[in-house]
Amino acid sequence: MYTRTKSLMARGSEFLGSEWAILCGAMSWVSERNLVSAISNAGGFGVIACGAMTPDLLDAEIAGTRALTGKPFGVNLITMHPQLFELIEVCAKHRVGHVVLAGGIPPKGSVEAIKQSGARVICFAPTLALGKKLLRSGADALVIEGMEAGGHIGPVSTSVLAQEILPALAEENIVFVAGGVGRGEAIAGYLEMGAAGVQLGTRFACATESIAHPDFKKAFFRASARDAVTSVQVDPRLPVIPVRALKNKGTEEFTAKQIEVAGKLDRGEIEMGEAQLQIEHFWAGALRRAVIDGDVEAGSIMAGQSVGMVTREEPVAEVIATLLEECEAALSRRNAA
Ligand SMILES: Cc1cc2nc3c(=O)[nH]c(=O)nc-3n(C[C@H](O)[C@H](O)[C@H](O)COP(=O)(O)O)c2cc1C
Repeated sequence: MYTRTKSLMARGSEFLGSEWAILCGAMSWVSERNLVSAISNAGGFGVIACGAMTPDLLDAEIAGTRALTGKPFGVNLITMHPQLFELIEVCAKHRVGHVVLAGGIPPKGSVEAIKQSGARVICFAPTLALGKKLLRSGADALVIEGMEAGGHIGPVSTSVLAQEILPALAEENIVFVAGGVGRGEAIAGYLEMGAAGVQLGTRFACATESIAHPDFKKAFFRASARDAVTSVQVDPRLPVIPVRALKNKGTEEFTAKQIEVAGKLDRGEIEMGEAQLQIEHFWAGALRRAVIDGDVEAGSIMAGQSVGMVTREEPVAEVIATLLEECEAALSRRNAA
């Protein structure tokens, strides 16, 4: 079944140890044992989002996921986590096969520490130059993620990153493409450009097996591409890390908060450090409030532009089957022409 897709995904699936080279990108609060095991059991590759978890919590989450699947899965660690090296030890203890390092350039020694445990390291490459550097420093595979994606994003679109990076690196290295992938036709395109596979988040976030709150899921089903907007920075003195999420009362209040804090700065009522802290802290816990508590007004409903293609709750296996059918049909049409 799906022979053309299988052959183009062969390098990626071999690298991941999964049937299909389709990763479900780690999503904080969403990518826990239930979704991760469902993805891996359906032939994809699930990745636990460690986020701000403590080493003990990660330990329990890996054990819980193992209890639900015998298939391989990965763990995503955020590079600025203060206990990064302890988290790496937890992954090593459980013999996790693949560790994804997200959130910036990996700190000194982290790639080596992961590799020493026998695991493979997957890094995000924001540019071609950095991609090359990461590979030289020991990364075993790269993910290139465009700004169509949900969550924290860079400034460049998936299509441009793919054109810049795949021709240069994908023949000799394993490169996965992420950001805005909602249908199999797009997967076919990136595979033909040399990608070893793809990573999706938004398309899987509201699967039946996802523990996200029903109201979080409803917000996804109602939304169209243009509702998934990037956070706005109002004042150059108060940096905002761009995040793509569904617009709601929280996103409006964030803009108002920045204007208020900038005003206080102008009037000398607060110091710069305090001002920046107030901006940074605005969204603390906001993703959890949306995903777990279902607060879709004030919480952060992180979602990519492909959210418009997510219209109902479906089991993970169905989503993967649909993607594979679309991909295979697209590849067959091209070969028949
Ligand atoms: C709700 C949500 C939370 C996310 N959290 C994380 C995270 O904690 N770490 C990470 O590396 N990426 C995170 N991402 C990005 C995904 O792993 C994935 O790369 C992205 O969703 C792919 O693009 P797409 O949304 O267009 O499919 C998140 C995405 C979403 C939608």
